[in-house]
Amino acid sequence: MIIKLANTKKTLLAGGFVSKNCRTDLVTVYNRGIMVERKNIGIVGLGYVGLPLALACADVGHLVHGVDIDPTKIESLRQGQSHIEDVPSDAIKKAIQAGLLTFDTSFSNISNCSIVIICVPTPLDVTHAPDLSMLELATKSISPFLKTGTLVVSESTSFPGTLRNFIKPIIVSHSSLKENEILLAVAPERVDPGNKSFNHQNTPRIVGALDIHSRGLATNFYRTISSEVIEVTQPEVAEAAKMLENTFRQVNIALVNEFSKIGNVMKFNVYEAIEAASTKPYGFMKFVPGPGVGGHCIPVDPYYLTWSSRDSGFVPELIEKANEVNREMPGYVVNRFLNFYSEEKDVSFGILVAGLAYKPGIADLRESPAIQIFDKLKELGYPVEWYDPSIESFLNLPRAELNQNFSAVIVTLRGLHLPVDRWLARGTKIFDCTGEYREFAEIEQL
Ligand SMILES: NC(=O)c1ccc[n+]([C@@H]2O[C@H](COP(=O)([O-])OP(=O)(O)OC[C@H]3O[C@@H](n4cnc5c(N)ncnc54)[C@H](O)[C@@H]3O)[C@@H](O)[C@H]2O)c1
Repeated sequence: MIIKLANTKKTLLAGGFVSKNCRTDLVTVYNRGIMVERKNIGIVGLGYVGLPLALACADVGHLVHGVDIDPTKIESLRQGQSHIEDVPSDAIKKAIQAGLLTFDTSFSNISNCSIVIICVPTPLDVTHAPDLSMLELATKSISPFLKTGTLVVSESTSFPGTLRNFIKPIIVSHSSLKENEILLAVAPERVDPGNKSFNHQNTPRIVGALDIHSRGLATNFYRTISSEVIEVTQPEVAEAAKMLENTFRQVNIALVNEFSKIGNVMKFNVYEAIEAASTKPYGFMKFVPGPGVGGHCIPVDPYYLTWSSRDSGFVPELIEKANEVNREMPGYVVNRFLNFYSEEKDVSFGILVAGLAYKPGIADLRESPAIQIFDKLKELGYPVEWYDPSIESFLNLPRAELNQNFSAVIVTLRGLHLPVDRWLARGTKIFDCTGEYREFAEIEQL
């Protein structure tokens, strides 16, 4: 990527940001051969989605104003401290120093932005129905600052119709814009925290909008940070595509989890069967069993789809069953573990849950099945400890040391470099939910 300053002969290479006092309106950004005018971008919600996006935008030369309602987060971001594993603090510091990135709890800077991107959480409520309260609040907060020509993009995941029937009416009633002046698009985020191979540049983006002008603006913008942008005819198609992507994973994970239960009662080697099936060169995609699904996507998004489908008159039984199968996995793991462990009942050294986050190498504990396993064992009165190198603190309980003695270990994540040989030699009972230690005959597999 090369940044050219149109009013000077200066050319900066990628990573060498444009100086703070440059004439920002005259800067042209060249990204993979595409020439783009620098934009003022507002990013609302600076979490797993918003912060990497902010940096991706600053990295190609846009001016980014990050807004978040969490003052602690804003304060540490202003100091250049990242709270997201994939976003290096150094990169934030460089972008701040170059004048390309600012952070605030106030929404007032939105009035200087030509594009505002919403990246706030869309979780479930206690009844497993969509909770759009944060999306509602964020949309209300930006609305007074929107001007004619400002494009609003939602990257928050939600069911088809959210942009048209939820976000737009809020802007209509809370902004000074006339209905036909509101420019709205949706570009569901596809970030995969911890994934070293895929990032903003090489992950294609889907863009849908309420009108052709909004779609064009959104497409031009996403082309500056992504190598491929797929335009779809309606925002509902983009929203539905995101639902399908994560529901596809939910259903296939549920399938392989159920397959592993079948393997357990029929006494065949589940992993060998999966490997054997994976040799088919077409029509099969490998999934592996696990203790359940976690994070802010797979355990959540399919419920948005099933809820909205039911609301529209169709009961999607297969997806609902998949949601249930995966939700019940932590309970199944505890039952299987206790059956395997029951002969011993020796808890003098405690039970270790090895792996606390929902996947390796990240600190996201949302919906983590390991925590549900931890809680269930605690409820049953077992002394439980935890280990996860990505997690600094959990419930004020210290992280266990791997050289401790444990009566039993439940492995929930791969790649933790656990001393299973040593534990086995000491008589520790090990229950592996990951398949990583399936070569050890003494280790019970899920
Ligand atoms: N985490 C993922 O891997 C992932 C992947 C793709 C899509 N998504 C979707 O992206 C959206 C954001 O998810 P996330 O994981 O980044 O969430 P997150 O919890 O990591 O971050 C969200 C941020 O938004 C802030 N926030 C909440 N309400 C706000 C408001 N009204 N105004 C300003 N800021 C507000 C929070 O303080 C937080 O910092 C969700 O819809 C999610 O489904 C997430």
